[in-house]
Amino acid sequence: MSFSKTVEITETSADTRRITVTVNGTPRVVEVEPRLLLVHLLREGLALRGTHIGCDTTNCGACTVLHDGNPIKSCTMLAVQADGHEITTVEGLGTPSELDPVQEGFHREHGLQCGFCTPGMMMAARALLDREPDPSEEDVRWALSGNLCRCTGYQNIVKAVLWAADKQRGAQPAEEDAR
Ligand code: FES
Ligand code: FES
Repeated sequence: MSFSKTVEITETSADTRRITVTVNGTPRVVEVEPRLLLVHLLREGLALRGTHIGCDTTNCGACTVLHDGNPIKSCTMLAVQADGHEITTVEGLGTPSELDPVQEGFHREHGLQCGFCTPGMMMAARALLDREPDPSEEDVRWALSGNLCRCTGYQNIVKAVLWAADKQRGAQPAEEDAR
């Protein structure tokens, strides 16, 4: 598969590389310019637009995806650096009929308002719960410290991740606040 469209969006150059990236479990062979950012490959080349671009300068975390299970800001990584690696985007987190506990937590605890930061928040949270299934509130806040939200004040996001941790461990998730 060759993504001539992907090349065009960064101004055409004859210099392209063929790379293989496993995205959400599926190997994808794509041809990209060496300067193409991973976030543009995901959004424009592979039409995975759940990964957002909020700043393009490594500040906001809206573009967070998992690279071999580690959270990275995909606006700060070149697509060619993902060659031979596994990338997980928010589209790979769960399915409508079987939500990831993190997705369910955000729903249950109302961990979003406009939702722009939410994909990145959820990917950072997924990485945390993969390495620390029983995080403290401080652990959650630290893990999400590279992700900015301009709406929520973070409180419900933290509650959502703690709810997901309980759910994932099979513990009784904390009761939702009465609203
Ligand atoms: S778009 Fe990547 S950190 Fe903001
Ligand atoms: S919910 Fe709007 S930026 Fe976080």
